[in-house]
Amino acid sequence: MSSETHLVAFREHFGLEPDRLVRAPGRVNLIGEHVDYAGLPVFPMALEQAVHVAMRPRDDRLVRAASSDPNYPPREFLLGSEIEPFPDGDWGNYLKAAAVAAASRYGADCGADLWIHSEVPVAAGLSSSSALVDAILLALLDISNIEVDPLELATVAADAEQYVGTRGGGMDQAISLCAREGHAALIEFDPLRVTPVPIPGEWRFVIADTGVQVHKSGNARETYNRRRAAVEEAVEQVGAHLGLGEGERTYVRLLAEHEADELVSVAEEVLDDRLLARFRHVVTEAERVRLAEAALREDDLEAFGRLMDASHESLRDDFEVSGPELERLVSLARGAGALGARLTGAGLGGCIVALCAPDQVDSVLEALRIGYFVKQPGGEAPADLHRRLFVAIPSAGASVRRI
Ligand code: GLA
Repeated sequence: MSSETHLVAFREHFGLEPDRLVRAPGRVNLIGEHVDYAGLPVFPMALEQAVHVAMRPRDDRLVRAASSDPNYPPREFLLGSEIEPFPDGDWGNYLKAAAVAAASRYGADCGADLWIHSEVPVAAGLSSSSALVDAILLALLDISNIEVDPLELATVAADAEQYVGTRGGGMDQAISLCAREGHAALIEFDPLRVTPVPIPGEWRFVIADTGVQVHKSGNARETYNRRRAAVEEAVEQVGAHLGLGEGERTYVRLLAEHEADELVSVAEEVLDDRLLARFRHVVTEAERVRLAEAALREDDLEAFGRLMDASHESLRDDFEVSGPELERLVSLARGAGALGARLTGAGLGGCIVALCAPDQVDSVLEALRIGYFVKQPGGEAPADLHRRLFVAIPSAGASVRRI
């Protein structure tokens, strides 16, 4: 959708002219899944697909928001540092999450009319919800003439999103706010650091969406929070066993002192099977992120692909966040020559990402189209196929533009 279309839609809805536009991209995580909340590095890139917000300041504290997607009916509320949430699972809580942070952290006090259009498939593991929170946060700050460094804002946005009840990590906000065009980014935490790493011109990341929706503030929330609690419990037990004091029992500390396989051996003595599996995923995934960064810098497509495959297996077997649709897409992509394929995002549905050399892209896209999206032989692919199956373009982070 062009910016002109955003302006027209805004005018039609609010009967006024917007005066600025925000763009906050979705992301695909290339590797490093379910480790950000363990304080460990992750390796995503921002997508060209973004949440766009056309907006205009108001002279009161009212925030009125409308979306181009009829599944998300208009919402309004008063800006303030404490805002009563909408009912659980309501999309408006993402808006309120941003509003509370803008008001309580930075004193934003100017209301706004906001018209939202998302090109990021919703609840598909490509971070549409964090992109929405980032976009609204930027919008409300800009309207109150408050400028904040993107790195700082990423931390604030990650805290802000806890308002919806999911104890997410900080990856999505950091990449959406701090990405560089043409680059992936190694994201480290405590303190947050974002290191852009160029993606070689020949690398292609194909994304395919199962269509199984994973709502971070809805159906996936309990599972996600349970996984995080298990990850935290596991490091407590292993750390205590290794003689670390309270407050020292972190994955970063353990991995600074031991290799992943040593830690797994220790964990085998201490943890029950379920916690052991979660722990093994986290420490081996951390090692894969380190190797994947090196592979990207060395332009070693095949090594990167193998690490993606191993990450997927670990997420499926140890972290138990895959599912039949994700498995189907991963195996179709690999069967058609992808060098690696894995679920991306929180899992349980959503998307896969597959790494290809340029001459494999067409056959991978075709295998996914025929094998997954066309339901019967000779049948038609769904009309929204271009949104559900595409080659990702590493894009820049969020921005605000005056009209
Ligand atoms: C969601 C969360 C992220 C991260 C991923 C899993 O996208 O928002 O913080 O934990 O799941 O890697």
